[in-house]
Amino acid sequence: SRPVRIAPSLLAADFARLGEEVRAVEAAGADWLHLDIMDGHFVPNISYGPQILKALRPHCGLPFDVHLMIAPVDPYLAAFAEAGAAVISVHAEAGPHLHRSLQSIRALGCKAGVVLNPATPAAAIEPVLDMLDLVLVMTVNPGFGGQSFLRSQLPKIAAIRRMIDASGREIALEVDGGVTAETARPCIEAGADTLVAGTAVFAKPDYRAAIEAIRGDAIR
Ligand code: DX5
Ligand code: ZN
Repeated sequence: SRPVRIAPSLLAADFARLGEEVRAVEAAGADWLHLDIMDGHFVPNISYGPQILKALRPHCGLPFDVHLMIAPVDPYLAAFAEAGAAVISVHAEAGPHLHRSLQSIRALGCKAGVVLNPATPAAAIEPVLDMLDLVLVMTVNPGFGGQSFLRSQLPKIAAIRRMIDASGREIALEVDGGVTAETARPCIEAGADTLVAGTAVFAKPDYRAAIEAIRGDAIR
């Protein structure tokens, strides 16, 4: 099996040195850069917007994996596409028009993802499966880094893995929240192929060792 992708979340980086931080995780072997966009409305925290992505784009060769925790979402999709997003993921809970949002993301030339909060069942993706390039399962309630991993989400990850395999489509299965070298293992066993990690990378002194520990390189 292919090694899992690691997507460090910029939320845990030093915001006074963002350019250096993205260069450092890229040099340390990260696969994607995960960007958490929070509006203080859909989630109880505010992070940063598309200007930051645009400023970082020349400093980083990694695909930008954009996680939108905002409502409404549709008026802002073009700004994130123009700022250099490769994948844009929207929450199934963020509004009544998930299908339209996914259509818009694809029309902007980006890959489209859907995110499920812990209380949202796997079945929420069924009606839009043919429009997806990625499914992101939250293993914390979104809004903050550094929370503990919710093991209750593991059966949902496994159920979505079965849905993706049955579809025969190439859809990434990403997990976000509380991922560490320890919690990565059950996620991978449940069928995740992409892991987001904020504090488990940026709060460590050696980014390369941190990424390798999450990927499980030491035990492979
Ligand atoms: C939470 C964000 C996560 C967060 C993860 O709302 O979606 O991406 O940065 O942080 P850790 O890895 O520290 O749980
Ligand atoms: Zn995220």
